[in-house]
Amino acid sequence: MNFLTNFERGLATKPIVIGGRNGDHIAVELSQARGYELGSVEVKKFPDGETYIRIHADVQGRDVIYVNSLQREPNESIIETLYTLDTLRDLGARRVVAVIPYMSYARQDSRFNPGEAISIHVLAKLFKSISVDHIVTVDMHLHRIADPSSLFGANFHNITGVRELARYLKKNYSFSKTSTVVIGPDEEAEQWAKVMAEELGGLEYGVLEKTRLSPEKVVIEARGVKVEGMDVVIVDDIISTGGTIVEAVKTLRSMGARDFYIAAVHAILVGDALSKLLRLNPRDLVATNTVLSPISRVSIAPAIAEALDKIL
Ligand code: R5P
Repeated sequence: MNFLTNFERGLATKPIVIGGRNGDHIAVELSQARGYELGSVEVKKFPDGETYIRIHADVQGRDVIYVNSLQREPNESIIETLYTLDTLRDLGARRVVAVIPYMSYARQDSRFNPGEAISIHVLAKLFKSISVDHIVTVDMHLHRIADPSSLFGANFHNITGVRELARYLKKNYSFSKTSTVVIGPDEEAEQWAKVMAEELGGLEYGVLEKTRLSPEKVVIEARGVKVEGMDVVIVDDIISTGGTIVEAVKTLRSMGARDFYIAAVHAILVGDALSKLLRLNPRDLVATNTVLSPISRVSIAPAIAEALDKIL
């Protein structure tokens, strides 16, 4: 006979961590790092293409952490994530923490052209309808979202993966103020350039100016940054088509920059992005594993584990 209430049961036991198809690698690491119980979710397709979800864990009265990036196949991942989170609630989980290492649609956060959907608002409404307790995400574009907690209807934690990238670079190379500068490829990247520069020992940092002409094409200009004879660490949140980084490297090379270390949090790498980037012949090209890719050599799990320690 079970004498514990659901609340007491949740307090007495470790959380359960469950990974979706784009998050299981991180869920396993979190379970190993913090001793969380590892559950699983079965995701299948019905013959007509609809999504089937079944949770294999007794989540009633327990704190549950569900991890899934909304890439690759963003739309499929969204359905998988929302169905799983709602089912966790329905099965009586005490607290539900959604860890979404990569939040898709965050760049469509405004009506840039008349008639466009503000996609991230729609996605946020869907999350809100499930009312998870916490959402943890990594370097999400929040430039035009003042209050993500109220938009998503959950305590919202936007953590950074740049410190993990810096730790990796520091471990593998040595950088000095006289020979290396950190550059963000656009103004929005200043926050990441600043953190990277601090973590690499107080290097100088600056940003370039980017104008986007289409999803694939950008123009990059450099004003007020000095890179002649310097090695450059380029840091950005996302590499999608690779257009931004390719143009940034071209611009900086034309100004006399030497070697490049390219670091990004989310490696979406669509189409031939990886080969375009490799052709730049960087000293290193690295990303975290928020989205799995051939360059995802840095784990985001330690940063997520720290955030979860504070939340739980
Ligand atoms: C946009 O503002 C982001 O910070 C990235 O710079 C951008 O998403 C990179 O996209 P792409 O690789 O397609 O140029």
